[in-house]
Amino acid sequence: MAQLWGGRFTKETDKLVYNFNASISFDRKFFEEDIEGSIAHVVMLEKQNILTEEEKNAIVKGLTGIREDVKSGKLIITEEYEDIHSFVEANLIDRIGDAGKKLHTGRSRNDQVALDMKLYTRAEVLHVAEELQELLFTLLIIMENNLNTYMPGFTHLQKAQPITLAHHMGAYFEMFKRDSLRLRDIYARMNYCPLGAGALAGTTYPLDRGYTAALMGFEGPTFNSMDSVSDRDYVIEFLSALSTIMMHLSRFCEEIIIWNSNEYHFVEIDDAYSTGSSIMPQKKNPDIAELVRGKTGRVYGALMSILTVMKGIPLAYNKDMQEDKELTFDAIDTVKGCLALFNGMLRTIKFNEEVMAVSAMNGFTNATDAADYLVGMGVPFRDAHEIVGRLVLYCIDKNTCIDALSIEELKEISPVFEEDVFDAVSLKTCVEKRLTIGAPGQSAMKEVIDINREFLKNS
Ligand code: ARG
Repeated sequence: MAQLWGGRFTKETDKLVYNFNASISFDRKFFEEDIEGSIAHVVMLEKQNILTEEEKNAIVKGLTGIREDVKSGKLIITEEYEDIHSFVEANLIDRIGDAGKKLHTGRSRNDQVALDMKLYTRAEVLHVAEELQELLFTLLIIMENNLNTYMPGFTHLQKAQPITLAHHMGAYFEMFKRDSLRLRDIYARMNYCPLGAGALAGTTYPLDRGYTAALMGFEGPTFNSMDSVSDRDYVIEFLSALSTIMMHLSRFCEEIIIWNSNEYHFVEIDDAYSTGSSIMPQKKNPDIAELVRGKTGRVYGALMSILTVMKGIPLAYNKDMQEDKELTFDAIDTVKGCLALFNGMLRTIKFNEEVMAVSAMNGFTNATDAADYLVGMGVPFRDAHEIVGRLVLYCIDKNTCIDALSIEELKEISPVFEEDVFDAVSLKTCVEKRLTIGAPGQSAMKEVIDINREFLKNS
C-alpha cells in the first residue's frame, strides 16, 4: 500500500478499507491526462518562480519517462497504489528523488482529479463526434442514392403515406446531426480548467491559472474554486448526450429488426453483420441491432447513476464523486462501439427496393392523395375523406387497391372521378407532389441533401 498521506496516521489502513477506497483499477485509464496536467502545472510553477528551472526540467523529464515506460509496457501500473495520482508521484520520486516531492506544490488531488477527468472526457467528446460524423456520411450516401426508392411511411406502425428511402434515412440524419451539435455545445461549455482550485479554496502560491489553462488548450480557468473541484455537470451533460445518441440508435435498430423480419423483408443484413442459430440452420439473426438496442439501457443507467450520486453532495469535494468514473468510461466505450458497429452494418445492408415499393403500393398509402384529388375537383375535404373511406372499404372487400380499379368502379363510388385520377394516385405522383421543404419529393430532398453535405464539410 503506497499512500500519499501517512503522516497524521498511527495505524495502517485496514486492507478492506484500502481496497474499497482505491480507484487505481479504473482511474489508470487517464494516466496520460494525469501526466499532461502535471507537466503543465510544473511549467507554470517555474514561470512563477515557485520552482527552479532545474527542478522543473527534472520533473518534466521524470514524468515523460514514466509516460513512455508505461506505454511501452516497461512500467506496470499496479494496485499497490491507491490511485493514478499516487502512482505517478511515487514513481517520480523514485526516479528523480527530492525534486519529485515538489510536484504537488500548490495542488490538491481534488483539482488534479477534476482536471484529469475533464481532459479525458473532453477528448472523448471529440472521439464520439468523429464516430457520429462517419455515420452521417453513410446516411448521406444512402440518401443521395435513393431519391426514387419508394417505401411506405408509417404511423402507429400502420402504412400511412408513401415516402422514399432517402427521406427515411434523412430523418435519422437530422437526429444524429442534432447529437453532433449537442456535443459541440458541451465541448464549449466544459472547456475551462479547474487546476489551481486546490483542495477547495485556491492556494496561497501565486499561480498563473490562465497560463496553465492555455497550456492545455482550455478557453480559460474556471471562476470558483469550490465549484471547480465539485462540478460534474459536464459529465452529466455528456452522458445525457450519449443517452440521446443511444436512444436514436435504438430506434433505428428497432426499425432494422422489423425490416429484416421474414414478414417485411425490406432489408438483408450482410452476412458479416448477422449471426446464426446453433439449432435452426435457416436462421440469420440481426444480433448487432438487438445488442445496440440492448446496450442503450446501460448508458441510461450511467446517466441515472451520476445524477443520483451528485444530488445530495454538499460543497465541495466529497469521495462520492469518485463514482463518476467507471460508469462514464463504460458508457463512452459502449457508445463508440455501438456507433462503429451500427455504421458498418448500415454501410453493408441491402435494401430490397422491389419489396419496399410493392409494400408502398399496397395498403392504401395513396388514400390521402385520392381525397386530395377530389378536393382538386371541388369536393369539400370532409366529403372527400368520406368518399375515399368508402372506396377503401370497397377495395378491401375486393382484395384490391385503388390504382387497380376501373374508372367505372370509381365513378360508381363518386362520379367526380375522371381518368386522370390514376396518375394522381400513382406512387410516383404521391411522392413527387410533396415538395415543401422537409418532404420526400425529389427537389425538396435534393435541397436538404445539399444543406447537409455542407454541414458535413464544415464540421
Ligand atoms: N480517487 C479520487 C477521485 O477519483 C481522487 C481525489 C481524492 N481526493 C481526496 N480528497 N480523497 O475522486
